[in-house]
Amino acid sequence: MRHLLSTRDLDRATAVGILDVAEDMADVAHREIKKLPTLRGKTVINLFFEDSTRTRTSFELAAKRLSADLITFSAKGSSVSKGESLKDTAQTLAAMGADAVVIRHSASGAAQTLARSGWIDAAVLNAGDGTHEHPTQALLDAFTMRRRLHGSASRGKDLDGLRVTIVGDILHSRVARSNVWLLQALGATVNLIAPATLLPVDTSGWPATIGFDLDTAIDDDPDVIMMLRIQSERMNAAFFPNAREYSRQWGLDDERLARLRPDTMVMHPGPMNRGLEISANAADSARSTVLEQVANGVSIRMAVLYLLLSGSVKP
Ligand code: CP
Repeated sequence: MRHLLSTRDLDRATAVGILDVAEDMADVAHREIKKLPTLRGKTVINLFFEDSTRTRTSFELAAKRLSADLITFSAKGSSVSKGESLKDTAQTLAAMGADAVVIRHSASGAAQTLARSGWIDAAVLNAGDGTHEHPTQALLDAFTMRRRLHGSASRGKDLDGLRVTIVGDILHSRVARSNVWLLQALGATVNLIAPATLLPVDTSGWPATIGFDLDTAIDDDPDVIMMLRIQSERMNAAFFPNAREYSRQWGLDDERLARLRPDTMVMHPGPMNRGLEISANAADSARSTVLEQVANGVSIRMAVLYLLLSGSVKP
């Protein structure tokens, strides 16, 4: 694997292999072992053209816990405000010596462009590109599901037969797209629930069923319910006219939470709009994996940095 751009590129064996390496990394990620020297002498550049809390900081921690040198670049306050292009920005930073570039960008396809253009000679990791993909988020979601299901016996396992319902703003969600492809590769089934205005026009070819009614989906007794953030910054009133109506029809409120099995996983990639797509009780309940997802993000990002920069030999 030269780059990590999309979960669509991952088959079952590769995906399970990444999750297994993340298991190997977990003791370091969770600070039971302080650091590994594995990437000493390597340089990782975090290139963030869009805001982030979880992805940026966990890539930073992952690089540091593997002893890599790290530069974090935010477009805000940089020469991007003077009109410098993605190509010139990437080449400028790469000229200082980059082995890996982690990129988040508002344009769908930005990571692919960087990887395939030949502008830089470094591994490219997609940290979220527009509404296209967010592969490390889907990997950490799958890792979290596998750990909840199998605990310390997770290694080598996939998600065969797991029934996952993803709810909300599918149209703008790179998390949903990456999850659909990865969950299929791992043997899970995916049901997408959204208002018609928040579904892509063409979902033919997506390995998922589509529905509009959250209550019916909850009656179907899913193993996982993943609530998506309403991405107000990417939409106008035509998509999303009324917060109260949205919450009433598509929010995971306390009444719907009570109808889920005690072991149904409640997931959210964050950041959450509490009271809109998810109630505070649902976000903070024992079913919620929200903070586990954040913690597991460090293990997954250590695993992918390790695999891209050191080859596929186990640490
Ligand atoms: N889930 C996620 O990508 O969060 P951030 O935008 O905070 O990185």
